[in-house]
Amino acid sequence: MRLFVFLAMAVAFASCNETISETSAVAPSELEPHRPLYHFTPDSMWMNDPNGMVYYEGEYHLFYQHYPDSTVWGPMHWGHAVSEDLVNWAHLPIALYPDEHGMIFSGSAVIDWDNTSGLGQNDTPPMVAIYTYHDMAGEKAGVDTFQTQGIAYSLDKGRNWTKYEGNPVIKNPGIRDFRDPKVFWHQPSEKWVMVFAVGDRIKVYNSPDLKDWTFTSDFLGWGNQGRPWECPDLFELSVEGTDETKWCMIVSIGRGATNGGSGTQYFLGDFDGETFTLDAQFQQGLEQDSAYWVDWGKDNYAGVTWSDVPEEDGRRLFIGWMSNWQYATIVPTERWRSAMTIPRTLEIISTENGPRLISRPVQELEQLRAASNELQSTTELNNAIGELEATFDLSKAGEKVGFELANSLGEKVVFGYNPQNKVFFVDRSKAGKVDFSADFPGIHTAPRTSEDQMLTMQIFLDRASVELFADDGKVALTEIFFPQEDFTSLQVVGEEALIEGQFHALK
Ligand code: FRU
Repeated sequence: MRLFVFLAMAVAFASCNETISETSAVAPSELEPHRPLYHFTPDSMWMNDPNGMVYYEGEYHLFYQHYPDSTVWGPMHWGHAVSEDLVNWAHLPIALYPDEHGMIFSGSAVIDWDNTSGLGQNDTPPMVAIYTYHDMAGEKAGVDTFQTQGIAYSLDKGRNWTKYEGNPVIKNPGIRDFRDPKVFWHQPSEKWVMVFAVGDRIKVYNSPDLKDWTFTSDFLGWGNQGRPWECPDLFELSVEGTDETKWCMIVSIGRGATNGGSGTQYFLGDFDGETFTLDAQFQQGLEQDSAYWVDWGKDNYAGVTWSDVPEEDGRRLFIGWMSNWQYATIVPTERWRSAMTIPRTLEIISTENGPRLISRPVQELEQLRAASNELQSTTELNNAIGELEATFDLSKAGEKVGFELANSLGEKVVFGYNPQNKVFFVDRSKAGKVDFSADFPGIHTAPRTSEDQMLTMQIFLDRASVELFADDGKVALTEIFFPQEDFTSLQVVGEEALIEGQFHALK
């Protein structure tokens, strides 16, 4: 994305009767079709899950599932990028290559501050990556033990990595799906905790030193039992406005999410260092609603959170892979495939129906704002990018409130809220290139839980995506699209109900 951020420094934005030109506009012809301008993308070739996100000495690290030889999935490496502000990313060389134990599947990274692993040197704590080895030869030979967990460490801010000689640190007992370790230090019990996805459950292991691991418990979930379970995360958050805390378990589901295909569920409860127990009120809600999703759209998968964010900051920072296994390998981009979502903060609020997770865009994104203006009925877009904030009065609303993105070819994406059905929606059925997969076009929805007459939405538009946050983060809906030319206009739908709105042109 770096290169394109530089190109995009030149931004112009025109609203219906005035033109605000920060600098000169980037001609769409200078850009690769569909290349996002402010979302992270690999410079070239294939990317899937975000991996090993960790903060260390002023840098946010983002590793990712990467196949450097093709634009489709293949032998996995960990690609690598760093950022000081979660918005501007610099690409670094590949961090982890496949080795004799297999390809490098998803996993996490931590700073081993007390050098419990003994892998540190002098006063430098090791940055330790914990990941899954996938032995393709074993899989092809029909054995069930081809996924194991391994570790590697870096003593120079993630630039160079050494695989641990005692790998794998967790051998496979004969279970085919045995992957995606997320590790954190549990202060009360003074040990490392690993959660990872094993078939139909999340397994919890403990370790004193990141090398010797002992099984402690299984979490079997509840409600939506889509499969396979992948990429879990577990962390503690304070419940907004109370002295309480709750633990959040994130589980990604390859197939069977709310709008089809891949999606990411969450569970709230307690954790004592060994066992995760569902919160009783949260569980009652699940019995009724069957699942709660971190994001209800089709394109936010395998997301997890950053480790070692300084306590003074205190945020739980999340990023997801903006695609869906139903069509990820055939989306119509050429030199690279896939982007990440914008980074978000996760928080827990308490509602009448129990605790719930909410997500909001990180405030660092505000630095992208080039010019802010009152929303007009129609806004002309440059490079299809922008941020919207709008409040609608539902007592004045007709069939729909929201927005329509369109281009001169008559292609469009419509998104917003439908008061009759009480659902948020993104309709990408006429969004241009949609026929590469029968699972791609359609109208995808999320239920509204708030009863408030006033509906506030914050929306991030990039050349190939919309991320809709509503009711202060209670609902997130992320979807990608591929128009044959960039969208050039944004029109308000249900303007009679619009109370106020801002359009921020983005750099
Ligand atoms: C999730 C996933 C993980 C696995 C990785 C392989 O998208 O299937 O379970 O580790 O991708 O690339």
